[in-house]
Amino acid sequence: LFFSMNIQAQFNYDLQGHRGARGIMPENTIPAMIKALDLGVTTLELDLAITKDGVLVVSHEPWMNPVICLDPDGKEIGNNDKSHNIFQMNYEDVLQYDCGSKFHAGFPNQVKFHVSKPKLEDLIVMVEKYVEDYGLPLPNYNVEIKSSPDGDGTYHPGPAEFSERVVSLLLEKLPIERFNIQSFDFRILQYIHKKYPQITLAMLVEDAAKSEDQLNMLGFRPAIYSPYFIALSKEIVDSIHDKGMKIIPWTVNNKEQMERLLEMGVDGIITDYPNLAPVR
Ligand code: G3P
Ligand code: CA
Repeated sequence: LFFSMNIQAQFNYDLQGHRGARGIMPENTIPAMIKALDLGVTTLELDLAITKDGVLVVSHEPWMNPVICLDPDGKEIGNNDKSHNIFQMNYEDVLQYDCGSKFHAGFPNQVKFHVSKPKLEDLIVMVEKYVEDYGLPLPNYNVEIKSSPDGDGTYHPGPAEFSERVVSLLLEKLPIERFNIQSFDFRILQYIHKKYPQITLAMLVEDAAKSEDQLNMLGFRPAIYSPYFIALSKEIVDSIHDKGMKIIPWTVNNKEQMERLLEMGVDGIITDYPNLAPVR
């Protein structure tokens, strides 16, 4: 089911599988990463939350999203049910939830099966084993620390400790040139930039028209500028390049938009559908 070994293409830009390959497999799971590798992505994009016992879990939300997860009894989680928080669980509790079987109206073609949220560590071990076993090109990892400024002390232990845990695991498991850390939270980027200047950082933003202000607020130029794709123009792409940064927009799910952005000269594309990515 998961191991199609259908290597479709090599890309001359950084093709990033968003949450693995969310259009095809349940998001942020090991099978989603394997599928993305089979489709030839150069980078695996994923999100992190952290459990009460300090385990880094691959998850977009710091709770069990009722849209994608079923409770330990296989039942639906109510939209207002606030009792399924990853930050208040130990990892053994996280494992009880099935986040792959429920139909997802936003991604109706996702293959459905029982799967739980993986530890970051296990995901990396499995991916590395897969690429080694099948002789695939080594992928990079674009790891998002999901930490909103109002989340301190609630969803995570604070930007410094969260960053430290992520950095220490990544440095233990991967060569430094095979991962970057991304965040919308400037404090995370500032912390890592100061303490680990050799780690590649990507700044996530909504609106690329405000890049000047955003970079002033951040206080340095990260290696990668990663805006929402919709309002991008050639002028913006050029101005980011002129500042010495790469530009890798998210989340581009339509082939024409991908072509348009590649024509503008973006350095990469983050997509839920790496199967639609133009071969260049
Ligand atoms: O990597 C960029 C993109 O993933 C940011 O949006 O909400 O899908 O994490 P989100
Ligand atoms: Ca993300």
